[in-house]
Amino acid sequence: MSELRFDGRVAVITGAGGGLGKAYALLLAGRGAKVVVNDLGGTFDGEGADSTPAQKVVDQIKSTGGEAVANYESVSEWDSAQKIIQAAVDHYGQIDILINNAGILRDKSLLKMEIADYLKVIEVHLNGTYYCTKAAFAHMREQNYGRIVSTASAAGVYGNFGQTNYGAAKMGIVGLMNCVCQEGARYGVLANTVVPTAGTRLTATVMPPDVVDKVKPEYVAPMVVYMCSEQFQESGKIYTAGGGYYSRAAMVEGPGIFLDTGAGITPDMIARQIEQIRTLEDGREYSSAMDQTGYVLSKMI
Ligand code: NAI
Repeated sequence: MSELRFDGRVAVITGAGGGLGKAYALLLAGRGAKVVVNDLGGTFDGEGADSTPAQKVVDQIKSTGGEAVANYESVSEWDSAQKIIQAAVDHYGQIDILINNAGILRDKSLLKMEIADYLKVIEVHLNGTYYCTKAAFAHMREQNYGRIVSTASAAGVYGNFGQTNYGAAKMGIVGLMNCVCQEGARYGVLANTVVPTAGTRLTATVMPPDVVDKVKPEYVAPMVVYMCSEQFQESGKIYTAGGGYYSRAAMVEGPGIFLDTGAGITPDMIARQIEQIRTLEDGREYSSAMDQTGYVLSKMI
């Protein structure tokens, strides 16, 4: 199998001044992609701004013969998000790959969390992913080609204490990508989601230092870079990656039961059959809401 290459491809990576985004930028540039290295450069909880991180990554890419340009706009407003995507078009004439990766944390338990901290996290992760995707999609649809990889989290897919803002945003991104997948299908625009695990400044707040060193962003990057390649033909999927572990996560619906709607359905009937309703054995994935609704309508009694 020949090496995956990205010659002639243009990638925008948000939040690529450090951590995972930097690893994606270095790997993609090393394989021929022209890269827009976006990073606002604020603190881990989203305060301030600094052009240094993005510029440093660009310098590193250029020092090894790669092509990259820095961008310091925030993903979290529609105007600035459009400028991030426009940077790719202005510098390189197109955008083929978007990795929605920028992120912050403002962890607090539900009752202690300020509304502002909830909204800020939603703005950066969920709204930022929406804005950048919307701006990039226009170009991708036009050229009938695009790869969008967005970043979810186990905190959203499975839940985590003290992260209601983050978990909501991250699972929202899965829903967003499920729908972009439907809209992009006939234009060759594929939208997928990664659930990473890596030692970065975000996880340094919760992981012991030896674990931070062990689970390097460089182990996540090969999966994400593969998901950005021409060879990768899937859409609407969630892949996990971290610490040398790679897998697929999915929404699975059990076979359920069909009760006779004409006969009247009571809560007691539900209680009696809850075991069969609950089981995921012989469950399946649905490719869209229509797929799921169509199945129910075809079977209902
Ligand atoms: P990181 O803090 O090293 O990287 C995030 C980058 O996003 C930073 O460089 C930051 O300056 C930038 N950023 C923040 N707000 C921005 C904005 N409004 N506009 C543009 N850039 C902005 O952290 P890490 O871990 O590399 O995070 C990358 C993504 O992966 C995030 O979305 C995070 O939630 C997600 N993630 C990371 C996990 C991990 O184990 N490290 C686990 C699950 C998800």
